[in-house]
Amino acid sequence: MVTSNHKQGLKIRRLHPLIGAEVTNVDFNEPLQRSCVEEIHQAWMDYQILVFPHQKISDEQHVAVTRNFGTPEIFHQSIIKSKFKKEIFRVSNTDEDGNLMPQSDPIQQQLSSAKKWHTDSSYRPIPAMGSLLHGVEVSRTGGLTCFTNMYEVYDALPEKLRKRIEGKKCRHDFENLSRITGARKPTEDERAAMPPIWQPMVRVHPKTKRKSLYISLIYNDKIEGMEETESVELITELAVFAGQEKFVYKHKWETDDILMWDNRCTMHIVTPHDPNERRVMHRTTIVGEGPVLAA
Ligand code: OGA
Ligand code: MN
Repeated sequence: MVTSNHKQGLKIRRLHPLIGAEVTNVDFNEPLQRSCVEEIHQAWMDYQILVFPHQKISDEQHVAVTRNFGTPEIFHQSIIKSKFKKEIFRVSNTDEDGNLMPQSDPIQQQLSSAKKWHTDSSYRPIPAMGSLLHGVEVSRTGGLTCFTNMYEVYDALPEKLRKRIEGKKCRHDFENLSRITGARKPTEDERAAMPPIWQPMVRVHPKTKRKSLYISLIYNDKIEGMEETESVELITELAVFAGQEKFVYKHKWETDDILMWDNRCTMHIVTPHDPNERRVMHRTTIVGEGPVLAA
């Protein structure tokens, strides 16, 4: 039976010459037909990040939409994830009783790392494939989420930089987040659950087969065969290159936008906003389909 959902197919509007599209004519309040999921998936591969405006959905529905694309990831620490729905990662400056948290709160310190270019859960042996972020209470003073296309970044890398990273791995360490933000260090158990891992710096996307640069300013502390200072300098140089305007789409949020991004070929950051302004964003994360494929 054909339901009202997705009757005439998706409407897709490009948002930036190199990355991002807005997708309308779909309603996440209703179950998605297989053909609709496939169409969204194809658009996701084509544009790397998708914006779905006006999707007023519950956390349960958010998780259900996520399941169309894979298994929701559950954050390995007891903080930040929702106590009501474990698949929801709260990228928010309020607690679940609605109180604004001070910036000194350990959760806010940890979330402050998102101001640096990264891709979600790259510190896992199987990093996340994608993420879906729901703007529940959005910022008017900043809080734009910016995305860079790492396929294009890789293709445009100057020869000199490309030579320095080709065939190399870099280390992704969850604990590095605490070193750079001052957030509390992981406990022994948390560290045992998430030991540092070496990932290829140039990866191949399992679906599109395109090559992209794979780095993180939050988690990378070392490149194979290099001292730490040189490693961090090179990662920083690469991230500055990746963050050039021409590669970046900046999303100014409206309430109930849902953004879906591919962690295998993009990086993102959030811009600062007034810390006294509430910003409530709920994220689900999709478990990856396997280890990162080296180029
Ligand atoms: C994230 C993230 C950016 C933002 O949800 O993974 O980095 O806009 N958030 O809050
Ligand atoms: Mn993130």
